[in-house]
Amino acid sequence: MSALVNEVARIISNEPIGPRLHLMVLESPTIAAKVTPGQFVHMKVPGAPDHILRRPFSIYSRNANEGSVEILYQEVGTLTRFMPSLKEGDAELIGPVGNTWTGARRYKDGSCTHALLVGGGVGAAPLFMLAEQLKEAGCPTDVVLGAQTKEALVCRARYEALFGCEPSCATDDGTYGRAGFCTSLVEERLSQGCLSDGKPYDYLAVCGPEPLMKIVAGMGAQAGVYTELSMEKRMACGIGACLSCVVDTTMGKKRSCVDGPIFKAEDIVWG
Ligand SMILES: Cc1cc2nc3c(=O)[nH]c(=O)nc-3n(C[C@H](O)[C@H](O)[C@H](O)COP(=O)(O)OP(=O)(O)OC[C@H]3O[C@@H](n4cnc5c(N)ncnc54)[C@H](O)[C@@H]3O)c2cc1C
Ligand code: FES
Repeated sequence: MSALVNEVARIISNEPIGPRLHLMVLESPTIAAKVTPGQFVHMKVPGAPDHILRRPFSIYSRNANEGSVEILYQEVGTLTRFMPSLKEGDAELIGPVGNTWTGARRYKDGSCTHALLVGGGVGAAPLFMLAEQLKEAGCPTDVVLGAQTKEALVCRARYEALFGCEPSCATDDGTYGRAGFCTSLVEERLSQGCLSDGKPYDYLAVCGPEPLMKIVAGMGAQAGVYTELSMEKRMACGIGACLSCVVDTTMGKKRSCVDGPIFKAEDIVWG
């Protein structure tokens, strides 16, 4: 892991983009220059209620030239319900924290030839920089996205613009794409192979709610596909000191913040 920086980041914009979903752009040149796909920032914001602890948010995208990073966040609790009120000012970021997806490195060393990315809900965001990296490396890559409704599929257009074709989508309420959970699309892709040439996938990356990751990890194991996932445990310190974010693995307890958040699916001992 490269050295963490503590950077005061000006909030450039912070706009609603879907139901309880917001896109925040922050001026953070050092983190923008250093971040790799799958890493996150541990964020503190001014005026947050109850002197709240920092909260982790994945980097959705970065613009190294402009020195900015984007986070996509969902309102779930105390801080994320307060964040939409922030229209200006500074946030304090520690980052970039954590390890990185290995897909592009695997493509370059020949251990991956076809990739499938699966994002559930806001889990679509931490996969986007990986998608960009795989595209740039030339790896045939397909994407499956799931969300509750059409309006919540907020990353769809960006993936479509990147690859020039729409990701396979599912919505719980059937308002867009396949009706129901996106796991049926994952099953289909794994059995039919890559959309470009029908060849089997040999790299699967998944981020989303834990039940989704557990099911997709099982599908990856059954299909014999190397699978990685991002374990988004609740975090306190974010720097490896407090053990609040431990994940049970076949090698014992690991800290999601510094040993992860990306883990090999076969190493996870599911509760
Ligand atoms: C590495 C990492 C990356 C993340 N990236 C993103 C992101 O890109 N976008 C985004 O919207 N969220 C992301 N999260 C989750 C985000 O950190 C939490 O939603 C946030 O901390 C909630 O803060 P709060 O004060 O609003 O909620 P709280 O008031 O602290 O909690 C409200 C509810 O949310 C639940 N909750 C809190 N944290 C988590 C968590 N990590 N996993 C599951 N449930 C949780 C609590 O159990 C509680 O039910 C990420 C988490 C991790 C660990
Ligand atoms: S959040 Fe403290 S060790 Fe991971």
